[in-house]
Amino acid sequence: MSDDQDEKRKATRHDPSRRKFLKGVGVAGAGAAIADHLIGSEKKIVASESNAAPDSVSGTVNLVLNVNGGKRSVTVEPRTTLLNALRNHAEPPVTGPKLVCDMGTCGACTVLMDGKNIYSCLVLAVDAVGKKLTTVEGLGTPENMNAVQSAFVEHDGMMCGFCTPGFVTTISAYLKKNPNPSLAEVREACKGNFCRCGTYPRVFEAALAAAKAGVRT
Ligand code: FES
Ligand code: FES
Repeated sequence: MSDDQDEKRKATRHDPSRRKFLKGVGVAGAGAAIADHLIGSEKKIVASESNAAPDSVSGTVNLVLNVNGGKRSVTVEPRTTLLNALRNHAEPPVTGPKLVCDMGTCGACTVLMDGKNIYSCLVLAVDAVGKKLTTVEGLGTPENMNAVQSAFVEHDGMMCGFCTPGFVTTISAYLKKNPNPSLAEVREACKGNFCRCGTYPRVFEAALAAAKAGVRT
């Protein structure tokens, strides 16, 4: 292969890294999302060229997120994930969704977006504007837990607890769709959530107990 061909191949080589992906999505989506959703006047988006897809975007944007029924203002870079915005830019922070893999494989960061469970580490904060977000904190409180939260306590459905908010959120959403699931259905519903401590049997027990008790969200 000639030097020229080799250079070309390097320049076009596919880079599947999540950071690159998010950067690309952030840049491509930033125009529409920002135009639709930006509030405030402090936006300073700097693109390298106005008519072409920019190589880089810098600066911050002010967003208002609807989290657990309340409005939360955050100032973030357009590439900031929803998980990062909630945990590190909201005041006070929303720390129920956990940062574990940060690449869409474990489910610890699960939140509900318009009632659907999503990995908040794979959604940009700018794309969550205008959506109804529910984190584990929004499902119930220590004094007034929802049925899934109570069942996790009763059935000891956790060890380290890092995966727990994700499981509770996923199961709470699932039981709204299927209030009377079989064990196999619960296992299937939880396939996007991983527990490294191996607490699965108790998690599934808790889910079935919550179904019996009747979940509310
Ligand atoms: S932290 Fe988002 S899926 Fe693991
Ligand atoms: S309880 Fe530790 S990862 Fe699930």
